[in-house]
Amino acid sequence: MSKRVGILLCGLAIASFAMAQTVFMTNDSVAVFYPSNYDAKQHQPSPIFEREPAAVNPLTASWPLRVDFSEKEGHSIATINVADDVDFYGTGEVTGPLRRNGRTIELWNVDTPAYGMDGGTHLYQSHPWVMGLRKDGTAFGIIADNTWRQKITTNDHQVTFDSEGPAFRVIIVERESPKALMQALVNLTGTMSLPPLWALGYHQCRHTYYPDGKVMEIADNLRRYRIPSDVIWMDIDYMDGYRIFTFDPDGFSNPNRLNAYLHQNLFKTVYMIDPGVKVEKGYFVDDQGTAGDYWVKDRDGKVFEGKVWPGACHFPDFTRPEVRTWWATLYKDFMAKGVDGVWNDMNEPAVFERPETTMPRDNQHGGGDGVSAGPHLRFHNVYGMNMVRASRQGLLLANPQKRPFILSRSNFLGGHRYAATWTGDNLSSPDHMKLSVPMTLTLGLSGQPFNGPDIGGFCENSNGELVAQWTAIGAYFPFVRNHNTKGTIPQEPWAFTPEVLNVCRTAINRRYMLMPYIYTCFREASIDGMPVMRPLFMADAKDLSLRSEDRAFLLGGDLMVRPQWAPEVAQPNGGSWQKLTLEDGTDSYQAELRQRPGSIIPLANLAQSTAEMRTDSLTLLVCLDSYGEAVGQLYEDDGDGFGYKKGDFRLTEIKAVKQKKQLKITYCQKEGKMEPIERKVRIGLVSGGKVSYSAWQTGVEMTFSIK
Ligand code: GLC
Repeated sequence: MSKRVGILLCGLAIASFAMAQTVFMTNDSVAVFYPSNYDAKQHQPSPIFEREPAAVNPLTASWPLRVDFSEKEGHSIATINVADDVDFYGTGEVTGPLRRNGRTIELWNVDTPAYGMDGGTHLYQSHPWVMGLRKDGTAFGIIADNTWRQKITTNDHQVTFDSEGPAFRVIIVERESPKALMQALVNLTGTMSLPPLWALGYHQCRHTYYPDGKVMEIADNLRRYRIPSDVIWMDIDYMDGYRIFTFDPDGFSNPNRLNAYLHQNLFKTVYMIDPGVKVEKGYFVDDQGTAGDYWVKDRDGKVFEGKVWPGACHFPDFTRPEVRTWWATLYKDFMAKGVDGVWNDMNEPAVFERPETTMPRDNQHGGGDGVSAGPHLRFHNVYGMNMVRASRQGLLLANPQKRPFILSRSNFLGGHRYAATWTGDNLSSPDHMKLSVPMTLTLGLSGQPFNGPDIGGFCENSNGELVAQWTAIGAYFPFVRNHNTKGTIPQEPWAFTPEVLNVCRTAINRRYMLMPYIYTCFREASIDGMPVMRPLFMADAKDLSLRSEDRAFLLGGDLMVRPQWAPEVAQPNGGSWQKLTLEDGTDSYQAELRQRPGSIIPLANLAQSTAEMRTDSLTLLVCLDSYGEAVGQLYEDDGDGFGYKKGDFRLTEIKAVKQKKQLKITYCQKEGKMEPIERKVRIGLVSGGKVSYSAWQTGVEMTFSIK
C-alpha cells in the first residue's frame, strides 16, 4: 500500500493565484503532484494507468520540475516550468512536425476527415502526455491524469494543461534517456500485448468492397500479382443496413463461406463494428440494449439518440461495467463465422449533424466499478477507449486461445492495451504522405506502438505516383494498410501501371523478408514500450542534429529508413550506418535502408503470407562494428495464442565475430523453453554500400569465409 508522505509546497508558484500542492513520490524519479482542491471522484480510478502510481518517497530538493496549479474562469490549469532548454515530443495524434515546441493541441476527440496540416486541429484521439528531452539526453515525461476536455501548450520553457474540468493531478517521470522514459511510461500504463503475427502483414482495405465476390476477387488479385498479404478488410457495407453484428442478405449472404475462402488462401479477415446501434424494435442489438437500459442518456435522463450511418442510433454507455460485459457477449456468434479481427470506428463518438460531430457535453454516463457517474465532458475522450476495452473482452470471450486484434479510430493515453490504431481519414496528397511519418512517430512516442496511416490516402482520388511513393515507405510502418473512401478510383497496388505494381511489390516483399526482425521489434515493444517505428534521436539522444529529423526514421533499433523524397536527412552516429542494397533489384522509389554497425538483422525467405513464413532458413544481415563484432536478437513463437506467456517461445541472441578472414556465427538461446532448432543460414555482410552473400550452411555454430 502506498503511504502518504507528501510534503506541502506553498509559495513555489510565481503567480499569485497559484494553489498549494501535495506531492507524492513513487520512487526517486516519479512524482505525483496533487492540487489542494483535488477531488479523486472526478478522475479516479484513472483509465490511463494499469498500476496506480504509488507514493513512497518524499520529494528531494534536487527534483527538477514543479507543478503550479491554478484556476481561471472555471478552468483548471497546471503549469510546469522547465528551466532547461528542451525539445518536446509526444502529445498524441497530431499533425505538424515531430518536435512539438511552441504548439497548442486540444484534446477532444473529433471525426475530422481530410484534416488540415497546421498542427492545431484536434483529431480522433487524446494523449495528455508530453515528453521532454534535454540537451544532455536526459528525459522527462508529464502526464495530466485528466480525461476532461483540455488543451496542452508547449512553450519553450513551459508546459500548460488547461482543462474545462475539475482540478487534476499531474505525474512527472524523470529518466536518464528517452528509452528509459518509454519503459517508465509502460511501467505505469501497461504494455501493448503481443499482436498476432498476421496483423504485422500487409492489409488491403477499401470503403467498400461489395459484394463478397468482389472481396474474393481482391484476394485472388493479391495472390495473382504476388503481393504478399495477410488481411482483407470488410468496411460498413457488409452489414445489413449498417446494423452492427449483422450481414447484408444480398451481398454477404454467407459470411462463413467467404471467410473460409479467404482462410484457404491464407488471409485473415477484419470486420467493422461501430458503436452506434440502429434504433429499431425487433433488431436484436437494439432490443437487448433497450431491455438492459444500456444507452447513454441526455441531461434529462432520457435515452440519447443521434444519427450515424444507419440513421437514428443509440449509443452504449461503455463507462458502465455491465454494458461492457453485454457488449463483449455480442462478439461470440459474430466471430464464430470466421471473423479474425475487429475494426472499431466512429467511436469518438461521431454523431452526424451535431456541433463538433459528437454528442452533447451534458449527456450523462453512469460509471461503475469505482468510476463515478458524470457528464459527457468528462467521458467523451475515453468513449473509444472504453469501447475497445469492451471489444477486447468480447474477442477474448469468443476465442480465448487467440490474440485479439482490434483497430480503433478513437482512443486515449493507455488505450494501446486494448487496440491498435490508424491516423483516420487522411488525404491522398504528397503532403499527407510526408505528414504520415511524424504522425506515426509521435503516436509511438505517446505510448501507441501499433499504428500507421491509410497508405495511398483515404479522401479524394489517389494516383500511381503517390501509391508507389507511399507504399515504398509505408512498408516499414508498424501498421501497413492501403485504404480509400467510397467514390474514389481504386488504389490497390495493381490499379495503375506495371511499374507502380512492381514498386509496391518490392517494398512489401522487403517487409515480409524483414518479418522475423519486425516481429522481434513488436516483442520488444510489448515488453519495454520502445516504439516499433522510432525517431532518429533514439539512436543517440545526445546528438542534437537528430532532434528534428522527421522524414527519415528507424524501424526498431538497427534499421534506418530514408524516403526517396528526402534526399538530405540527418544521419545517426556520424553517418556510420551502412547502406543496404538488397538482392531483389531496386527502383528509384524504394526507401534507402541503412543498418547500424554492430547489428545483425535476420531475414526470412520471401513468403506470400505470414502463415507461410519459416525461420528455419535465415539470411543474417551482418553489419560489423569497428571491433569486427555484431549482435542481433531473434524472437520466435507460434505467432498466435498465449503459449508464449508460459514460455513457449525462443529468444535467440546471434553473435558474429570477425577473425581474420572468417566470420564466426554463434547462437545463444537467452529465454524461452522452445527447443533450439537447426537452421539453414547464410550471411549477408553489409559493408561499403554492398551486401556480400555467403553460401548456405546448416548448423548451430558456423564459420563463413569473408574477404
Ligand atoms: C470512417 C472511417 C473510414 C471508413 C468509413 C466508412 O470515415 O474513418 O476508414 O472507411 O468511415 O466506414
